[in-house]
Amino acid sequence: MTPAEFVERLDAENQTRLAGLAPDATLVPEVKGALNVPNLLKVALKNEIEATEIAARWLVATDDVGVKLALARQVGDEAKHYRLIADRLRTLGFDPDTIDPLAAGYGPLFTYLDGLKSTVERVAAGQFTREAIAVVKNRQFIEFCERAGDRETATLYRDVIEPDERHHHALGRALLLRLATTESQQAAATAAARRTLELADELQKKALATAGIHHAPGC
Ligand SMILES: [Fe+2]
Ligand SMILES: [Fe+2]
Repeated sequence: MTPAEFVERLDAENQTRLAGLAPDATLVPEVKGALNVPNLLKVALKNEIEATEIAARWLVATDDVGVKLALARQVGDEAKHYRLIADRLRTLGFDPDTIDPLAAGYGPLFTYLDGLKSTVERVAAGQFTREAIAVVKNRQFIEFCERAGDRETATLYRDVIEPDERHHHALGRALLLRLATTESQQAAATAAARRTLELADELQKKALATAGIHHAPGC
């Protein structure tokens, strides 16, 4: 396959699998106990700091200047998202300085991504796929915020965070077009994308089972 054919195929496969992450549009989600915007924003802090750090680790680990610059932009964006979410939490009455999002350690998706060794796998998993997941999850979170009457958080996600996450996905696409040129690179990229989606699905099911969370924002 040419890189262009490969990226189109991977995108189509991802979109099919992502449909499984999106709840039925007609299903009104049940909000139980402490499932509210501030608690979901605390989950978002963890996702954003992990996204910041994985991009920073990969920036240092590659010799490819184009990849370094793409990751540098992402590091800055994810750190900005963290700060904006922390500011929003403060406005909602929660002191973000008392929250350590890594107190319980890094999550399984971070650990998986951190173990990837090749740039093509990292880009397929971390930018092309994880950021596509983030776009879906953020769309669900925006709807959740609107139902909860929190227009400011919805606007923050719609106008600032979501466009950045789309850009990260687009960066992943551009890099894959350049890097996924051989059959073995394409196979490695496909496997990394699939595992990322599986982990996201497992994490969502676990969050749903343990905390009733279906709308935790992505990064
Ligand atoms: Fe992102
Ligand atoms: Fe982000």
